[in-house]
Amino acid sequence: MTDKKIIGLCGSLRKGSLNRKLLLEAVRLYGKCSFKEANLNLPLYNGDNEDVEKPKSTLNLHNDIKAADGVIITSPEYNKGISGVLKNALDWVSRMPVPVWKEKPVVIMSAAAGRTGGETSQYMVRACLTPFGPRIINSPIVCVAQASQQFDEDGQIISEIYLESVKEAMRNLQKAMN
Ligand code: FNR
Repeated sequence: MTDKKIIGLCGSLRKGSLNRKLLLEAVRLYGKCSFKEANLNLPLYNGDNEDVEKPKSTLNLHNDIKAADGVIITSPEYNKGISGVLKNALDWVSRMPVPVWKEKPVVIMSAAAGRTGGETSQYMVRACLTPFGPRIINSPIVCVAQASQQFDEDGQIISEIYLESVKEAMRNLQKAMN
């Protein structure tokens, strides 16, 4: 059996992003798979340009999602909302002629400095995806709070509670992809 293809979307472009750590931890805890992190460093969506020629990076993102068996999204919380980076990426993908999200298994998680672990932004990501009809894995909800304290120097999650909930999310993703 070939390995499942998982694409990761991290809503933060920052090199030291805690949401990227969370994404990589999720992949590690998933186990054997074919993983790729999507490039979300895209130009800002501008309707004036899209009919001329869509930027290559946006076409690549669309193809990556289309080819994937499942998607993991990790979302920072910016001022109680979704990051512009992630929203911009979702907007670009929505403008492609072939829809890619329908029935696609998707896990959404968040890591944030605050005590709610980016819960508000995570719900916003869910709301933004809903019109596209993906199969969002609704439990467990993984909101990593005070995120700068939750990873060791190797980038691994320290807390048993978070470890277990990410593992469970990955088991549920695996089931949804079968
Ligand atoms: C934040 N941060 C933040 N944290 C939070 O819990 N709730 C919030 O509303 C916000 N708002 C916010 C706005 C902006 C513009 C920035 C830059 C940061 C802090 C944020 O959670 C923290 O910096 C995370 O580490 C960002 O995620 P990455 O980049 O580490 O993945």
